[in-house]
Amino acid sequence: MATSAIERPANVPADRVIDFDIYDFPVEGLEYQASMRSIFQANPAQVLWTPRNGGHWIVKNNADVAKVLADNDHFSSRRIMVTTEDQTRPPLVPLQLDPPHHAPYRALLQAALSPKAVGKLGERARELSIELIDGFKADGHCEFIGQFAQHLPIAIFMEIVGLPSEDRPYLTEIAEVAMRGASEEERNEAGAKLMAYGMGTVAERRANPGTDLISTIVKAEVEGKPIDDFPLTGMILLLLLGGLDTVASTLGFYAQFLATHPEHRRKLVEHPDLIPNANEELLRRFPIAILAREVKADVEFGGVAMKAGEMVMVPTQMDGLDEHKFADPLTVDFDRVKPGANSTFGGGVHRCVGSVLARTELRIFLEEWLKRIPDFEVKPGSEPKVSARSVATITTLELVWDPKSVK
Ligand code: HEM
Repeated sequence: MATSAIERPANVPADRVIDFDIYDFPVEGLEYQASMRSIFQANPAQVLWTPRNGGHWIVKNNADVAKVLADNDHFSSRRIMVTTEDQTRPPLVPLQLDPPHHAPYRALLQAALSPKAVGKLGERARELSIELIDGFKADGHCEFIGQFAQHLPIAIFMEIVGLPSEDRPYLTEIAEVAMRGASEEERNEAGAKLMAYGMGTVAERRANPGTDLISTIVKAEVEGKPIDDFPLTGMILLLLLGGLDTVASTLGFYAQFLATHPEHRRKLVEHPDLIPNANEELLRRFPIAILAREVKADVEFGGVAMKAGEMVMVPTQMDGLDEHKFADPLTVDFDRVKPGANSTFGGGVHRCVGSVLARTELRIFLEEWLKRIPDFEVKPGSEPKVSARSVATITTLELVWDPKSVK
């Protein structure tokens, strides 16, 4: 349900106003990205303002998305969602820290998610993908999100942070409710459970350090001091929410696209060498994250006067789908040259530190799935739906195939 609208402040020109609710706008079928784009394109102004969710600005072209993300002097990530809700969880670290405090925390994660570290995790992701697909391919059907998309990245997250695999179903469920629970209360409750789980793990690693990422962070110093429990829990929450939900959601969009586009599927089955480029093209076409920033100091931007404290919504979707940057942007073309230069992973100092891992998991899905289940479709009669808060996801995706066609 749309939130109530606030009154237009004096600094917002009337011709910039659009009635847009980030959490409740009309999406045609599963075309979340294209629907958002057509709503914004219908208004010619460079920067828009909506009275929903406390009132906020919206940047909508590729250059402005990149500019806001790069300008830490005027745009802070201390608030990363447009919402009027209470945010009870600890700040996600390093995402909600501005420079210069951000860099030392990021460096810790960067080491754990470097291409070298990801090489090893990639092998694990491949084994696990094969195991999962082999487990259901003879059935001729699966519910893709629960049986594959959420399973893979959370299992990899559990490896990175050294958590027992039996906790996986519990964590998957509370992470889902924390991101997309129906009410603010439910989301906050799930967030508190995640936090308690994170805190418990931190205490346990302080007592018995190992070689996993949480132990490394527990032992690390930032600005000459050990990291307190509060930012430490924020780091774990960020890794969990950032690494699980995003990959699972992106996998959902990949699978539904391939299930409904047999000619694209066939092309990758016949030319697996195209998969790395296809991975970039699908990332460009199906960005899932809507980012936000708080205006830190009054600034003139896109012909309007933004005031300190106001929020700006930064839809990553509007970069890769900008026709000035990519010809015919809604078309998926696996031969497109350099499809990777876009904001699907954000930009500036907070650009996704897990992007090497994410790309690896997504590529491995394409490679291993198409080798084993080259032909599949969305189950006739099922109606997959998109659910979106700041990350868009397909909630359930029933896929079917002929068991005789599997390899
Ligand atoms: C397809 C999958 C993914 C997408 C689309 C994605 C997207 C993003 C975006 C857009 C940002 C910037 C947020 C902002 O500036 O407000 C970001 C940051 C971040 N992501 Fe990802 N992400 C993905 C996977 C991952 C994975 C697998 C991990 C870790 C395991 C991860 C960890 C992080 C962290 C820690 C940050 C904050 C970086 C910083 O503040 O310096 N992400 N991600």
